[in-house]
Amino acid sequence: MRDRMEEILEQTGNFVKKELEQDSSGHDWWHIVRVTRTAKMLAMLENADEYICEMSALLHDVADEKLNESKEAGMDKVKSWLLLSGVDSKDQDQILGIIAEMSFGSGSGKPPVTLEGRIVQDADRLDAIGAIGIARTFAYSGWKGQLMYDPALKPRDQFTKEEYRNERSTAVNHFYEKLLKLKSRMNTEAAQVFAEGRHEELKRFLWAFDREWGFANESSFEESVGQRGVVSRIHVAFDASSSGSLKLMLRGKPDERVVSLEDNLMIGPLPDKQDAGSTAMRWNWFLGQMETSEERDDFKEMLMRAAIDWRTLPCQLAKYQLGGVGKRIRVRANGA
Ligand code: ADP
Ligand code: NI
Repeated sequence: MRDRMEEILEQTGNFVKKELEQDSSGHDWWHIVRVTRTAKMLAMLENADEYICEMSALLHDVADEKLNESKEAGMDKVKSWLLLSGVDSKDQDQILGIIAEMSFGSGSGKPPVTLEGRIVQDADRLDAIGAIGIARTFAYSGWKGQLMYDPALKPRDQFTKEEYRNERSTAVNHFYEKLLKLKSRMNTEAAQVFAEGRHEELKRFLWAFDREWGFANESSFEESVGQRGVVSRIHVAFDASSSGSLKLMLRGKPDERVVSLEDNLMIGPLPDKQDAGSTAMRWNWFLGQMETSEERDDFKEMLMRAAIDWRTLPCQLAKYQLGGVGKRIRVRANGA
């Protein structure tokens, strides 16, 4: 019996490999290999039927709507293969059920009915996040002919299935529209554990992408990838020691940023490391640019907002208005 199952698994692998070999949309054979390995491991951890998980994982993308004329044509392909390879009829039904749920039911939001189905869905979702998920997203975008990022196209909060498939979007938007939501949608506890680290990888990537996109860019605030929650908090530090300890404390939290008045890309006279009083001098210089205390308070608030990309602060300062009263701020930036 064991041998027979192994033989079926091997033949099914060969069949799927032939079917998907030419694919460049992120459903290539190696995607199947990874999902199958993950599904097997999850099956072990969750005490599920390994054979059913492995078979369903191998076949899960053969029926994909994007790669077939229709969903039905895709399902027929899987059905014929199961018949041909002599899979036990009870197993056939279970495998077909799992694949149908994954291709048809994934939009319904309901988890698959069997543990094996929930596991294969988790394994497929794990391959959509983390470093590999990032790579697949850009590969898919290239295949579809969409841009990696366009600041003018904001991520959509809600969309129908047709809008999702057919409207113009970008690879980066896909993170906000889908990938960042997958962590909380894992069915099994084992998959939730693996999703944690991969989710962090997505956030780290977006953070770095955003920084590079904003580099030397006057409009970086408006163009920021991160307006949807990548930067959740900005801390403004007024001296070197609090900035140092804040940065240390917030290590590994890329969504929280520390901006320090000590950073030498700030405007105004630079503080002198030798002279402890020079930071205070610098801060006073800032405040000296303001006429009223109201203006000062507004300035601090504005500083925090502009700090989202503080490297372009001199440019930002000229653009931001104080407290909505329409007054232009009169700060002269170094060299800007
Ligand atoms: P699977 O069927 O393997 O679950 P999908 O067919 O949904 O995956 O997508 C294949 C890969 O392409 C995934 O990594 C997914 O994140 C990515 N992808 C799907 N839709 C988009 C899109 N609109 N923009 C960018 N990447 C996408
Ligand atoms: Ni898949």
